Amino acid sequence: MRTLLVYYSRTGVTRTVAQALAERFRADVEELHDRKARTGPWGWITACMDAACKRSTEIDLPAKDPAAYDLVLIGTPVWAYTMAPALRTYLSQRGRAIKRAVLFCTMGSSGDRRTFRHMVQLIGKPPTAVLALLERDVRSGIFAASVRDLADQLGMGG
Ligand SMILES: Cc1cc2nc3c(=O)[nH]c(=O)nc-3n(C[C@H](O)[C@H](O)[C@H](O)COP(=O)(O)O)c2cc1C
Repeated sequence: MRTLLVYYSRTGVTRTVAQALAERFRADVEELHDRKARTGPWGWITACMDAACKRSTEIDLPAKDPAAYDLVLIGTPVWAYTMAPALRTYLSQRGRAIKRAVLFCTMGSSGDRRTFRHMVQLIGKPPTAVLALLERDVRSGIFAASVRDLADQLGMGG
């Protein structure tokens, strides 16, 4: 099964999960790069506003075609109870080309359900599975068990 993993990460938490999933699923990896600066206090404020207003952003051109994959894992941090703008751009442009999606997100405390709902709207079909993780569980390493469970659930364990 050809598997692609697409994700955006501002501070590395979602990247940690993406790397663990990519290893488990033996996935090709596409990291999205937001061309808008998201660092510092102003970067944080505009990030929040852009996400809350469901704005897209400019991203570097993705290299891989999701239509060429049987399964696409898609990850984002939760920003203002929705996906990060870089992922919104990607899914707006290519979401409908995804045949089978697994969604994952990382967050401080809450917003996963609304985030997944918004992602599903752009993909146009329900996901095969979802995985929501708290930032503290990623940092502590506890999340690894959830990654194993997800892989088992999808027959990718072992
Ligand atoms: C602009 C912004 C908005 C955020 N909004 C939320 C939120 O609505 N709910 C939440 O639980 N965490 C929120 N967070 C926390 C992030 O989701 C969390 O730190 C995430 O794990 C960061 O992932 P990353 O390191 O891959 O960027 C927000 C963080 C940022 C920068």
